[in-house]
Amino acid sequence: MNLSIVGNGYVGLVTAVGLAGNGHEILCIEQNTAKVDSINQGKSPIHEDGLNNLLFNSVKRKRNLRASSNHQEIVGTDITFLCVGTSCSSGGSIDLSCIETSAQEVGRALATKENYHVVVVKSTVVPGTTAQRIIPLLERFSGKKVGQELGVVVNPEFLQEGKALRCFLNPDRIVIGESDKTAGDVIEGIYEDFDAPVLRTDLNTAEMIKYVSNAFLAAKISLINEVGNICQKFGVDVYTVAHAIGHDPRIGHRFLNAGIGFGGSCLPKDLQGLISASREMGYCPQLLESVLAVNKAQPMRMVEIAERKLGGLQDKKIAILGVAFKPDTDDVRESPALKVIQALLQKGALVKAYDPVAMPNARRELSTGVEYCDSAREAISDSDCVLVMTEWDEFKSEELYRGKLVIDGRRVLSPQKAGAVCDYQGVCW
Ligand code: UDX
Repeated sequence: MNLSIVGNGYVGLVTAVGLAGNGHEILCIEQNTAKVDSINQGKSPIHEDGLNNLLFNSVKRKRNLRASSNHQEIVGTDITFLCVGTSCSSGGSIDLSCIETSAQEVGRALATKENYHVVVVKSTVVPGTTAQRIIPLLERFSGKKVGQELGVVVNPEFLQEGKALRCFLNPDRIVIGESDKTAGDVIEGIYEDFDAPVLRTDLNTAEMIKYVSNAFLAAKISLINEVGNICQKFGVDVYTVAHAIGHDPRIGHRFLNAGIGFGGSCLPKDLQGLISASREMGYCPQLLESVLAVNKAQPMRMVEIAERKLGGLQDKKIAILGVAFKPDTDDVRESPALKVIQALLQKGALVKAYDPVAMPNARRELSTGVEYCDSAREAISDSDCVLVMTEWDEFKSEELYRGKLVIDGRRVLSPQKAGAVCDYQGVCW
């Protein structure tokens, strides 16, 4: 089929490349002309494992993927995926300006189309958004009626950064929220080669499923972090506890790694978005607010431990290992490391930081006050204390830390082995 993808960040581009691999003709619609050029040259504008090769293959060999900044070209396609960002506004609720503008542009383009078209909302939006905000815009600008010449589907993504293409090609489930059966059938057809359960729902339910997935994952992390803080008081190792409880299939082993908490572009934003949306509906989501509060406090334990061990932070040399919000990505959005660096600087510490790939992004966020180093060894060399913030493989050798005070925020090191070569302290173990 001919598919258009509006918005080519990591969700849009992974969707485009993944579906091109299944033989569809793909048109990427993107405002940013530098991205359009990059895609048309077969070069991925974002860092995602495997994406560059598959993009090159589709653009240059199979020639079934191209990019344009002209929304009008959507007319030549059968289905349009909306994959634009819905970042947080200052109050915590999601910002719909991009997706509303896109809905208008798509509507305008569809006004001149004669055949049936399906619009798929992949962007994360709170329940009710597609029905109350997006569909009215599509109908107004296209002059068409949903359920007749137009179908609308909510098809959330569950991609993890760093392995987004693998997640896309091997989904756990495919959620299709539909305005009507015809629209849902068309989108189920797009995924016919995928080996995953397909769950058909209404629009609001599909929107909610995405939020609840991320809220549940976030809650799991905050729960194990809080439990870790308690375990530490009792001299119990939270990782041994997590391993044991994880054998219960109702709990499971994944997402029980205690540490400095969750960051990234999704979990914090989506949790905040669900909290704001609940409050707007007159419900106070106490548990979700606590999940966020635990996550906010957790990285600050690194600062408290360093302060206590060093007897104050003024003029103390602190090495930060890892600024990305997790390994295998250069993304620093909502990274606990950045919050810790800011707190350290405020307390007068001298900060040296190193990350294998995320330093250019960290520099953009924190341009002054931090000395960025070329290696972990350089950052550590004359430090009074080392804070390990991201579990990159290259930070896993205990030898690196010989003779140092080390505070581990991600259980990068074995406490026993590290304890033999350095003054080792875990954030909650
Ligand atoms: C997440 C969801 O997993 C994905 O389904 C959704 O579509 C987007 O948001 P992502 O942000 O890429 O994906 O990161 P993820 O791998 O889920 O990790 C999120 C954060 O939680 C990271 O900061 C990670 O370090 C932290 N984390 C994860 C923990 O602290 N402990 C864990 O056990 C797991």
